[in-house]
Amino acid sequence: MKNLCFFVFLFLYAAFFFTLVFGANVSYDGRSLIIDGQRKLLLSASIHYPRSVPAMWPGLVKAAKEGGIDVIETYVFWNGHELSPGNYYFGGRFDLVKFAKIVHEAGMYLTLRIGPFVAAEWNYGGVPVWLHYIPGTVFRTYNEPFMYYMQNFTTYIVNLMKQEKLFASQGGPIILSQVENEYGNYEDFYGEGGKKYAQWAAKMAVAQNTGVPWIMCQQWDAPDPVVRL
Ligand SMILES: *[C@@H]1O[C@H](CO)[C@@H](O)[C@H](O)[C@H]1NC(C)=O
Ligand SMILES: *[C@@H]1O[C@H](CO)[C@@H](O)[C@H](O)[C@H]1NC(C)=O
Repeated sequence: MKNLCFFVFLFLYAAFFFTLVFGANVSYDGRSLIIDGQRKLLLSASIHYPRSVPAMWPGLVKAAKEGGIDVIETYVFWNGHELSPGNYYFGGRFDLVKFAKIVHEAGMYLTLRIGPFVAAEWNYGGVPVWLHYIPGTVFRTYNEPFMYYMQNFTTYIVNLMKQEKLFASQGGPIILSQVENEYGNYEDFYGEGGKKYAQWAAKMAVAQNTGVPWIMCQQWDAPDPVVRL
């Protein structure tokens, strides 16, 4: 009996160690998410980090966990982070890395909706106002300036998360990230450009190589391997 306990302990310890060092394997099929070979039914809740102050984050996350939540989900708020082109802010309420680490320390998962579109009563849908003044920009459709700045910001956020080892593939809490947001509902209004933009966004995201799946909420024509919801 003693030996069995010892081996069970060793096994759990090893599993924990390997997750930290080598990360978790997050995949999916038509039925569920699969984490390290186990099918998961996960309950998720939103906490939008800039709507409260960092001192409140541990308490909010803890309350969610005690309420039976497994995954915290948040948008990433582009216009709060990129104040002018290439000029980034991650202080105070916008300390995304700190927020992700608090979620991790609580033993929960994180879904990062990098978007960059925020559909949640947030000025300009989270798109920076300065981008409006860059000639030729049309928001959320196929045009050079919008796609350039969107890719630039997405890459910046992904690289920041990678540096801090926050993707589940690196042992961190992020099991999913999202590109665009409920765009399938609007795509037709943009005509051919809308279709091309959605496909471009999916490919741009997948090429970021996060090691965890990308999702596109309400985007029924999203190409594999993006999760269509
Ligand atoms: C990850 O898990 C999936 C499903 O369980 C499996 O098909 C795949 O081979 C795994 N990938 C790695 C790198 O272990
Ligand atoms: C993003 O744009 C800034 C300038 O606006 C530039 O300095 C930076 O290299 C770009 N980053 C990427 C990943 O393209």
